[in-house]
Amino acid sequence: MGFGVYIHWPFCLSKCPYCDFYKEVKKNVPQEEIVAEYKRELDFYYQYTSENIVSSIFFGGGTPSLMKPENVAALIDYVAGKWKTAPEIEISLEANPNSDYPEMFADLRRAGINRLSLGVQALNDADLRFLGRTHNLKQAYQAIDGVLQNFDNHSLDLIYARPQQKLSDWEKELAQAASFGMKHLSLYQLTIEEGTVFARKGIKAMDEDAAGEMYLFTEDYLADKGIYKYEVSNYSRPGYASRHNLLYWTGQDYIGVGISAHGRFCFSGFKGNLEQKQRDQKISPIYYASTYNCQLEELSQAERAEELLLMGLRLTDGIDKRLFAENCGLDFDGFIDRERLKYLCEAGLLVDTPQNIRATREGFLVLNGIIEQLCP
Ligand SMILES: C[S@@+](CC[C@H](N)C(=O)[O-])C[C@H]1O[C@@H](n2cnc3c(N)ncnc32)[C@H](O)[C@@H]1O
Ligand code: SF4
Repeated sequence: MGFGVYIHWPFCLSKCPYCDFYKEVKKNVPQEEIVAEYKRELDFYYQYTSENIVSSIFFGGGTPSLMKPENVAALIDYVAGKWKTAPEIEISLEANPNSDYPEMFADLRRAGINRLSLGVQALNDADLRFLGRTHNLKQAYQAIDGVLQNFDNHSLDLIYARPQQKLSDWEKELAQAASFGMKHLSLYQLTIEEGTVFARKGIKAMDEDAAGEMYLFTEDYLADKGIYKYEVSNYSRPGYASRHNLLYWTGQDYIGVGISAHGRFCFSGFKGNLEQKQRDQKISPIYYASTYNCQLEELSQAERAEELLLMGLRLTDGIDKRLFAENCGLDFDGFIDRERLKYLCEAGLLVDTPQNIRATREGFLVLNGIIEQLCP
């Protein structure tokens, strides 16, 4: 079992018109105060997870590349000073091409980051402007060079299925993206989220059929280049799937600090000042969902099972039924609505075997609908 630590840095230089992630645009961020706050949150979660071995740390945002590298290093050191860490620990950070200075990537590498995820979003100037990005293509190329020079493990984010985007336009960008030599690509179809500038302007998402065609094209095109889809929007060269994100999709434990972070973990061992009641409860495993400011909520077996289903079907390999039962204490075939499952298999959207259940290529096009139908 892996165990991950997510650190959320909510600050950005500007707000992108499509983005509904929690973020703040602030000039003078009191970084040291925030880092001290994060350490207090880490102390809290340590009480519940002290026996775990950290297999990944992920700095996500917002724009964590706006953090001073010494603060990134301080948080990595703090985690490594409390928990045991796995020898092959993956330590990722999301960077924007607009937050760089000449030595930024080298400094982040020295701070302990060993996987860099770069949010490029488009590979032509007109679409970068449309997406409200504050970097241009030249800066994107410079940042890609910087990442490749300083890291062995890297990822690139692009948003596609933009309104008016033609399949042939996307093919050109995809060809470039595949040619950089990045180990991993996160490719998201543009969604128009309520409350964003795009929604207010009435911008419409691409129609489903055209977007579906792009989706299947993307999968085939990249597979041909040795880059394989392993999750709805994530593709990697063999052995380079994001270990941290796999924790979410396979129902393993993680904690999260920062304003819009959350966690899911099982009480692994007691090393703090918890109340007797909580110590007693340790006899049977307690599964917690955590949110900002150390708020904990116990999850029932059914809630846990639903989450495992929701997350697991996102993976190309689908859900391992044995792990499902280990993770929530419920038998998969007993939990699922068998009639609906049969119908979805007959419709060619799911494959169900005694060992696992997974979406087919066509199933991925309507995954949200499948999940809605399956949850009892
Ligand atoms: C947490 S965000 C931010 C990462 C980083 N701040 C950046 O802007 O590159 C992670 C990714 O979600 C994707 N994303 C955000 N909003 C989206 C939307 N409305 N539609 C599709 N993808 C979106 C972008 O590709 C982005 O890189
Ligand atoms: S896409 Fe990234 S940079 Fe843009 S507002 Fe969202 S988190 Fe900030």
